[in-house]
Amino acid sequence: MRSANDEPRTDGDALKQWTAVERYITDLLVPPDPALDEALQACAAAGLPPHNVSPNQGKLLLLLARIQGARAILEIGTLGGYSTIWLARALPADGCMVTLEVDPKHAEIARGNIALAGLSNVVELRLGRALDILPQLAAEGRDPFDLIFIDADKPNNPDYFTWALKLCHPGSLIIVDNVVRDGAVVDAASGDPSVQAVRRFNELLAADPRVSATAIQTVGSKGYDGFAIALVTAGSADGGW
Ligand code: SAH
Ligand code: DHB
Ligand code: MG
Repeated sequence: MRSANDEPRTDGDALKQWTAVERYITDLLVPPDPALDEALQACAAAGLPPHNVSPNQGKLLLLLARIQGARAILEIGTLGGYSTIWLARALPADGCMVTLEVDPKHAEIARGNIALAGLSNVVELRLGRALDILPQLAAEGRDPFDLIFIDADKPNNPDYFTWALKLCHPGSLIIVDNVVRDGAVVDAASGDPSVQAVRRFNELLAADPRVSATAIQTVGSKGYDGFAIALVTAGSADGGW
């Protein structure tokens, strides 16, 4: 992530240290997994942007989904399916996951990676703009999602959050990636539309009485960013807020 003037704010030494510590943590706590490792290789070989969560963040997603006892998961922003595989691995045998992706090339790579991980029966990848698909999901009258991971185009985060609330239930967890943006989030005068969108989203999250939320700063091989986590404390999937 870049600051408003498109210069990285993080100096090279800091990034090196964060990357070394991430490797240390990953070597200790995130055992190699052929499906996940091959998924990352396939993403890189296909020239996908390196916007996937890091391995230790992927494991955090899995742990949160397990702690949550999630049986139904929604992801907005599949890319090559790396975070998808982590989250789907947390599901029980009869669980299900829906993941939304607008880019056909990303979706094709993700489908291959999800198949290689043996998760094609668990994961339904829907190709299209998330803001078109989310109303369809709501209209299908399916069971609400227990965990929703928002990780697509940042300017739509306020709308994604609004839809997420419609598609979940009290007790659901909503996780939103990239809410710190190399620290640029504190710059109220930022000229970067993505930063302004993240600020609007964070304010929306703060003001919404239906959730209890916090945000955590992260550093690592992907630089300096963070995620928000919100527990839905009120309301219902049928609109009875
Ligand atoms: N969750 C992934 C990373 C997602 S990167 C992981 O951690 O592995 C963001 C993805 O969102 C990209 O693949 C991009 O094509 C997709 N995206 C962007 N705009 C979108 C939209 N309007 N609807 C659905 N997906 C979108
Ligand atoms: C970007 C998007 C992401 O989802 C991410 O994790 C990192 C960077 C981006 O669009 O720059
Ligand atoms: Mg992200």
